[in-house]
Amino acid sequence: MIADYDFFVIELPEGKLLNEVFENEQDLYLEIGSGKGEFISQYPISHPSWNFIGMEMSEKRIRNCLKKLSIENNHNVRLFRHKADAGIAELFRKESLSGVFIQHPDPWPKRRHHRRRLIQQDFLSALAEIMKPGAQVQISTDHEDYSAWIVEEFLASPHFICLQDDPIQGRYNLDEHIVTWYEEEQRRLGYPPYFMLYKRI
Ligand SMILES: C[S@@+](CC[C@H](N)C(=O)[O-])C[C@H]1O[C@@H](n2cnc3c(N)ncnc32)[C@H](O)[C@@H]1O
Repeated sequence: MIADYDFFVIELPEGKLLNEVFENEQDLYLEIGSGKGEFISQYPISHPSWNFIGMEMSEKRIRNCLKKLSIENNHNVRLFRHKADAGIAELFRKESLSGVFIQHPDPWPKRRHHRRRLIQQDFLSALAEIMKPGAQVQISTDHEDYSAWIVEEFLASPHFICLQDDPIQGRYNLDEHIVTWYEEEQRRLGYPPYFMLYKRI
């Protein structure tokens, strides 16, 4: 059964910010590229006093996420159909996000498509604007070239510092990690993820 579309999938009226969709002031976390919804349906259950927005550009994937969500278990989750880019700074209050999760962003492997990659300077500057100082960005990718690109982009950004001794790890030194559909699939094909962790200065 598909969960209540109107409860979970939010519209953003002009002049409003995504912070306003929850009727409380709990800490707000963002996942970009929710895919089939493993993270956005599971992780928030163990953090009931935080709010979560899953930003996903594909309507098909929004519907995949809805199949995993229930109002009973996921009262603190909303989905927003939107393509994240440098315009993200216009969607949230300044310095309001407590954390950001990005698992397996599209790698755009061909050189001529690299400019389509999500992680690049203008996006990182916009993200920094809406993150609280000290808030963390967790990113994973199965794509070796994109992992090196991500490290370079964060290194070049004045807004973030790496929280790992080695910027690319084979696993997170964190209590919780939700294995997504894409991670499982890529592992099966012999491409385990690279994990990166950054802090907004
Ligand atoms: C490779 S899949 C990974 C999905 C999921 N995170 C996982 O690990 O299984 C990438 C997902 O991000 C979405 N996506 C890609 N670029 C996006 C963007 N700029 N903003 C929002 N969603 C995006 C795609 O529609 C797709 O669902």
